[in-house]
Amino acid sequence: MPPALSAAQLTLEQVDQAVVHAHSVGHGLRRSHTWLSREVPGKRSGLGFSLAFQVFRRRSERTVLSIAWTGDSAPAFDGAPVAATAADVRSTHHIVVDVAGERRGVATAGELVASGTPGAWPIAGVLPPLYPEWLGDRSFTEAHGTRFPYITGDMANGIATVEMVTAMARAGCLGFFGAGGLGFARVEVAVGELHAALGDTLPWGCNLIHSPNEPALEAAVADLYIRAGVRKVSAAAYMSLTPAIVRYAYSGVSQRPDGLIDRPNAVFAKISRPEVARHFMNPAPKPMVDALVANGQLTTEEGRLAASLAVAEDYTIESDSGGHTDNRPLAPLFSVIAAVRDEVVAARGYPRPLRLGAAGGIGTPQAVASAFALGAAYVLTGSINQACVESGLSDEGKAMLAMADIADITMAPAADMFELGVQLQVLKRGTMFAPRAKQLYEIYRAYPSLESIPAEIAADIEKRVLGTSIAQCWADTREFWMNRDPDQLAKAEADPRVKMALTFRSYLGLSSRWAIDGQADRRMDYQIWCGPAMGAFNAWTAGSFLADPANRSAPQVAMNLLEGAAVLTRAHQFRTYGVAVPPSAFHYAPRPLL
Ligand SMILES: Cc1cc2nc3c(=O)[nH]c(=O)nc-3n(C[C@H](O)[C@H](O)[C@H](O)COP(=O)(O)O)c2cc1C
Repeated sequence: MPPALSAAQLTLEQVDQAVVHAHSVGHGLRRSHTWLSREVPGKRSGLGFSLAFQVFRRRSERTVLSIAWTGDSAPAFDGAPVAATAADVRSTHHIVVDVAGERRGVATAGELVASGTPGAWPIAGVLPPLYPEWLGDRSFTEAHGTRFPYITGDMANGIATVEMVTAMARAGCLGFFGAGGLGFARVEVAVGELHAALGDTLPWGCNLIHSPNEPALEAAVADLYIRAGVRKVSAAAYMSLTPAIVRYAYSGVSQRPDGLIDRPNAVFAKISRPEVARHFMNPAPKPMVDALVANGQLTTEEGRLAASLAVAEDYTIESDSGGHTDNRPLAPLFSVIAAVRDEVVAARGYPRPLRLGAAGGIGTPQAVASAFALGAAYVLTGSINQACVESGLSDEGKAMLAMADIADITMAPAADMFELGVQLQVLKRGTMFAPRAKQLYEIYRAYPSLESIPAEIAADIEKRVLGTSIAQCWADTREFWMNRDPDQLAKAEADPRVKMALTFRSYLGLSSRWAIDGQADRRMDYQIWCGPAMGAFNAWTAGSFLADPANRSAPQVAMNLLEGAAVLTRAHQFRTYGVAVPPSAFHYAPRPLL
């Protein structure tokens, strides 16, 4: 037990040390007196209170400015008035100091006068207006021509529609079209529509998804993006680089006479692992670039410049999300990848910044504010947009999402990497997709061919899962691949396990389609990708106009999240100045903002 000193005997440094010690053993400033004076916590008397008061007064004396605030309305010192002031983010706020009362408060409007002016409050700071536009990295909005540091992520099978991308662009944000899972022709049509709607005036982008089973499709879509002038591409599901994404990244790169580099194409790499981040943060491997130059897919000049440029300059750090996910929490993942970024940038000496955005679990103002507090240049949302009016999901699917709680999600086999045992996060409530897809995967693991599946197991999945005979399912699968990629059929003919995988994958593919189309008799098979953000969003919007899916437009949701994050950020700023900020200041109720 430390000796009981009189607070007046302590130097300022000793007082600070005492407080630091009290904090380090788990007590806040208010309670730091309890171990010094053995008083009842919360009773503001005796040496402990005197010490805390001393700390407050000395710190306040050190930090007050040589100007003061005066105004018609009284400053707010706690409770609802402080919360109301925090919500008014577009005003200038003054942190006023009541030394005698051992309080700091906030004041709006009024005027600044010389300190010592009778009736004026000493101030410890002036906070200028806080704009949602400025929550992220200013270089992000400048580089990409957006007003806000906010992106709606690509959602496969066209769930992130042309309408969604267009609406986000017009609202000052960025949206990525959900090209994953679509055939080439559909992507080509969407690119044409986006060009017609937005041209080069407003920012927009498309998804390029790594397709280990369909490398020709990946290359063709990358080629389309280069030819059609799609200037922003979200690169997803990459574990390492492919010629397709490298070619897109460096196409059109040039150097001005003053040495500055022009890069017309921007790659946004979706990252959930540090080792994948390294691939995109370093220049692409020389042999891969040389091969692209040799076969005429990059010019010699582009190949030369590629040697000193990262493949991507924007990184969406994806934590526990809907769809493909490693289920990692955002804060540690972001920190680890930020460390990789810092290391690579220092080693390479890049003149241009590599920006990190945050995704996964973002569905409330708290989540947005905390992502920006981590240092995110931008935020990207997914699950919550799927429940919005612009989404390509059926109304039935949106209604199911609107009911989701935070725990109503589970992992299930992924259609695109079924054979590898890759899983993705889906909605659990109201659908049997996950257990049925898992059963198919278990059977795929247990038997070498469709023909070797025991009769009663085959009968069970035909009745409960496929809804048709295995033979018919294979016939339908065959027809599908005949049109899409006949090479897959050749592989299936040669290997019965490939045939089994394609057959079972057809259920996984169709279950997404049924959810998109709202096929009523397949409701229990709907595959709806969804992360915990959806439950958090539903809890936040409960009882508000955004509880109704009909009112959820993606820009409206974005503006509410950003505005709410600005309010919470302001509340936190007040707290860091020593103001007593109530919990209510950290809640932002949804409201129509557009
Ligand atoms: C229905 C759905 C489909 C998705 N499809 C893709 C995709 O094709 N490509 C991709 O990069 N990310 C895809 N994602 C991930 C989102 O773009 C986004 O990164 C993710 O949803 C963010 O996490 P959140 O769901 O927690 O908001 C999808 C997400 C959902 C919910």
